[in-house]
This record gives sequence, C-alpha cells and structure tokens, in this order.
Amino acid sequence: MPVRSLLLAGACAVAVSGCAQLSSMTPGATPEVPPATQPARPVQWVRDVHSYARPEIAHVTHVDLDLSADFAAKSLSGTATLDVVGQAGATELILDVRDLDVRAVRDAQGADLAFGIGPAQEFVGSALTVDMPPLAAGETRKVVISYATRPEAAALQWLTPQQTAGGQKPYLFSQGQAILTRTWIPTQDSPGIRQTWSARIVVPSELKAVMSAEMLTPDGEPAGDGRTAYRFRMTNPVPPYLIALGVGDVAFEAIDERTGVWTEPSRLHAAHDELAPTAEMVDVAEALYGPYRWGRYDLLVLPPSFPFGGMENPRLTFATPTIIAGDRSLVALVAHELAHSWSGNLVTNATWDDFWLNEGFTVYFENRIMEAVYGPERAMMEQVLGWQSLEATIADLPPADTRLKLELEGRDPDEGMTDVAYEKGAFFLRTIERVVGRERFDAWLKGYFERNAFVPMTTEMFLEDIRAHLIKGDQQLEAQLMMDAWIYQPGLPSNAIAPTSDAFVPVDAAAKATFVDGAPPPRALWDGWNTQQRQRFLAWRPEGLQAGADWLTAAQLAALDEALDLSEEGNAEVRFAWLQIGLAHRYEPAAVSAEQFLLSMGRRKFVLPLFTTMWAEGDWGRALATRIYAKARPLYHPITTGSVDAVVGRPAG
Ligand code: BES
Ligand code: ZN
Repeated sequence: MPVRSLLLAGACAVAVSGCAQLSSMTPGATPEVPPATQPARPVQWVRDVHSYARPEIAHVTHVDLDLSADFAAKSLSGTATLDVVGQAGATELILDVRDLDVRAVRDAQGADLAFGIGPAQEFVGSALTVDMPPLAAGETRKVVISYATRPEAAALQWLTPQQTAGGQKPYLFSQGQAILTRTWIPTQDSPGIRQTWSARIVVPSELKAVMSAEMLTPDGEPAGDGRTAYRFRMTNPVPPYLIALGVGDVAFEAIDERTGVWTEPSRLHAAHDELAPTAEMVDVAEALYGPYRWGRYDLLVLPPSFPFGGMENPRLTFATPTIIAGDRSLVALVAHELAHSWSGNLVTNATWDDFWLNEGFTVYFENRIMEAVYGPERAMMEQVLGWQSLEATIADLPPADTRLKLELEGRDPDEGMTDVAYEKGAFFLRTIERVVGRERFDAWLKGYFERNAFVPMTTEMFLEDIRAHLIKGDQQLEAQLMMDAWIYQPGLPSNAIAPTSDAFVPVDAAAKATFVDGAPPPRALWDGWNTQQRQRFLAWRPEGLQAGADWLTAAQLAALDEALDLSEEGNAEVRFAWLQIGLAHRYEPAAVSAEQFLLSMGRRKFVLPLFTTMWAEGDWGRALATRIYAKARPLYHPITTGSVDAVVGRPAG
C-alpha cells in the first residue's frame, strides 16, 4: 500500500451538488432511514490538513454502526457499514483511523476488499485505504468494515463503577471533537464531510445507551446473553465529530415537551432542577435566529471525569456535572451548547483552521440567549469576564496564534481551543453588530444560518457571505469593520471596544480595598454578589504583576479563606478562581482544598491550570502536583491526562 501524505487532498474545490440525493434515492439504501436533509447550497470540498480523506474522489454519505460494548475488554467491536459515492471510475476510498483494529473490509455481498493502513502520524493517525471495483456514476456503494476499538482509544473513556455517582455500574462515553472520532469509527473524519448515520449498540442489560441522535428503541431490545440493543438514527447530515455515545445507568426526566435531562438516577433531581431554564433558552434561540432543526434538545450530565464543560452533540448536549451549582448560576454553558445547534452543527467550520466560525459565533449567540433570558446586566458581566480572559490569553500566546484564521497544519487541532476563537471571535461579531446596528446584524446572521445550513464554511466563505448580504459594496462600512485585521492579524484591531459592567464597579472597589488597602474581606457584599461578581473579585490582580510573583500576604490569604469560606466553596468556578490564588501563594489550606477538588472532577479547564500553577511554585508545588496527580490521573479522561502529562509528566509505574 502506498504511503499516504497529508497533502493528497490539496487544491480541490470540486462542487458536488446533490450527493445526499444520490444516497437517499439508491435502492440499496436502508429503507427505514428517511431522506437526508439537503444542504442549503452545493458543497465545496476544502483541503483539511487533519484528514487523509479525498472526498472529491469518493466520500462517505452514511455510516451505519453495529457495535457491542465489552466493558471487561474496554472495547467496542462490530461493523461500520459506509455508503460511498464518488467520481465514476473511482477505485479507492480513503478513511481516517487511529488506534483501531481493522479486521476485515467487505462489500455488500460479503466479499473481501483489499485494504491497507498507512503509517501513523501524531494526532491524525493513519489512512485506511480500501480498494474497490470502479464506482459507476450515481452509484452508492456499501463498504462494510469489521473492527474493534482499543482500550486506549482517545475518544472513549471506560469508567469503573467507582468513577460514577452510583458506584455500582460501569460507564462509557465518547468525545469526538476535534479529530478523535477516528479512534472509534472508521470513516472520513473531517468536519467538511457530512454524513447521516444510524446505529445499533449492544450493552449489558443493566445499562442504557444514549446517542446524539433520535432514539428508535427507548427501552432497548433483548440481544441475548443478558444484553440489550439500542437503535438510533440521525437523518441530518453531520460532521463525524458530532457522533456521540453514552452508556451507563442513566435515567431521564423531561423539562418540557422537547427538552429534558439524562443522568445517573441519584443525580437526576438536582440536574433537572439546575437545568430547567433550558426549555426557555430553546424558545429564545429560535426567536433570535430561526427554527431549531434537530427535533429534541436534551442534555446528558456525565460523571465528573468528562474532560470538557460541554459538548454540543446534536439533540443531546454532553455536560460536566461541575455546572450543577445548586443555584443555576452556570447555565450559560447550556446557552452555549444550545447555540451550537446553529453555529457549528448547522453551519460548520470546514476545517479546524476555521474553528472561530464554530466557537466565536457560538459565544456571541450564547450571550444573546443569556441577555434575553436573564437581562442585559447579566449578559454584560459575562462579556467583561470574557474580555478579561481574552486579554490574558493574547498576552500569553505567540502572536500568530491570536489570529482568528488559524494555521494548525502539523499540530493538534485542540491547540486552537483558546479564547481567541471563542472571545475574539465573539467580540468581532459584536463589533459588526455595533457598527451596523442590532436589527441589521440579526437579519444578516439569521440569513447566514439559512443560506449555509448543512454546508461546511471556511473563513473565506464567511467573508463572501457577509460582503454579499450585509456590506453590499458600502466602502465606508467595509473600512469601519476592519474585517481583514480581525481575521488575519494578531491581537485586537483598533475598533475593538472593551465592554464594561456597572455591576462590577462595587466589586472592583471592594477588590482594591481588600487587596491593596488591607481592608477585611467584604463578607456582606460577597453574600449579595452573584457568581460572576465573585469570579470578578477573585480575578483581581495588581497591574504589571510579574509571572510567579506573590500579591497577597499569608495573613490576607487566611483572612480571605476564613471570611468567605473559599476552601470549602461548592461552586466549581469560584472554587477554581480561589485555588488559583491560593496555590500561587503556596498557601497550605489551598493545597488541601485543591487535592479534594482535583480528585472530585476531571474537567480540563480546571485541572490543567491548577497543575500548571502548582508546577510554577518550585519544589513545594512540584511535590504537591506530583503527589496529587499520581492519585488523580487514573480518574481522568485521556484528553485531560494528555494535557497534564505535558506539564507534570506521567507518574512512574
Ligand atoms: N465544542 C466545544 C468543546 C470542544 C472544542 C471540544 C474543541 C473539543 C475540541 C464546546 O462547545 C465548548 O466550547 N465547551 C466549553 C464551554 C463553553 C461554555 C465555553 C468548555 O468545555 O469549556
Ligand atoms: Zn463551544
């Protein structure tokens, strides 16, 4: 088998209209799957440096999974049946795989097809090249891949019962974004290659399977041997990173007719109560930017090792339990993942270099949902916190990585997951909104989602769209927006305006009094503050603070901790903000609290900075980090350990 290079898919921009029609009209297509939703316009193939696929020759239009979960072996095994269309005469199908054991590749009649797996490259894995008899024009070919996942598949975490709330039953969940789906499904794993899909998942009967799709068998079907099968289908074409699976002892409670919560039974009441605002958020989102196109919107609250805050898996957002604060103070995360149902899941970044199209649009939309549900004051507080963290990120990153359009060739696309895509992206859109006015901006954005639904978008296509539909040749407007500077230049352009919040004025005054003038910690004020105000208070730093320098005395730290009960804080965001301060000062009670916190959850956003802070604190911090990590690492997801290993190193043994 020839060695495949990442560059093979280069320089192709073949317009293929109607590839989805082909698959749904072919007699061989699975009869129970309704026709796929059509893309709003013809799809343009774009070079993706993180995929080996050559979709202009042959591409996958549908994936049908038949997999069985073996918790003892930590493996999913079975078949993926791919529907493939392409150029007449095409004899080669190239898929992405990583750490996957491919046992056989067959045609629809069960005859073996020759295949080869190319050399593995870091992050992207290998090309799986299948030789096929020449494709006929308009034909949909079935290719059946028998395979098994490995225990170390990075997309999958197999949890022991001890890692769950119930403590009795194991759990499994997947995380596909950005390029991990190829560690559990052999397909073309590029966000620009959309596929409908269906699945039959066999699990031990004490567990339930849920997926980011319509559940066809809510109660499952007997599959023999104490096992139960669950079937699913997704009739909207999606990028493979949005195919997601959860298996565990989970139960469901509805919020309204189209929203609800899945989680472990002992956590269901609290999660349902916390996430009740979801129903209103979906209504508000639709009123802003058009119909929700996915049917149901449910959430799955995962065990604490889930490495992200949330993941916008269609119809079923995956969420960390660290948002269950008891007072609904962290529900912006729901607004965020819900907003991805438009920005990301409907209109998708064509490559990970265009990641800001997913996240920047989503942070903008998220904040509009928050404004509509909780009012402008709350929304502005969230914007100010975003700006503050963006400024720190820009100061930290190499300038080239502070451009919206990224260049991630040869790198892990996760490196694009910074405040630049999220917050700079959102502030870019707010700048446009400010210049053209909200009414015009909203009309354009709603149209953008309609015009580009189910179509992969590049940054350049975004520019074309906004020039054609909003700017319309107005040279003065074009100059005012400074779009090229926002997208292709580092840092923030001169038309960026820092947001302000009146609600932070007393907070900033109290911070200065406490941290500079030595006043006692403001317990009474603190009690009246919301979570965002508490975060703002704890994010205070003296101007020009040098890396590694202390800014508080031991007495100040102890007074803060005691007055505000910070080491016992239950809100994960506030606890995290405090631990960052305490650890940076080698404050012992914070070390105890940090150990507890780091053993209680594995969300990378909290875990990685805390270990990084400890690591910067000399022998004290390194010994502490090493000791805690040795205990915590087995609990964490591969995504989290992958990041922390680079700081702390892998514990020996
Ligand atoms: N899609 C992202 C998560 C993601 C990005 C996973 C890139 C893998 C690669 C999700 O929508 C997200 O942004 N989650 C945030 C929370 C959000 C409120 C900013 C997170 O997990 O922290
Ligand atoms: Zn997001």
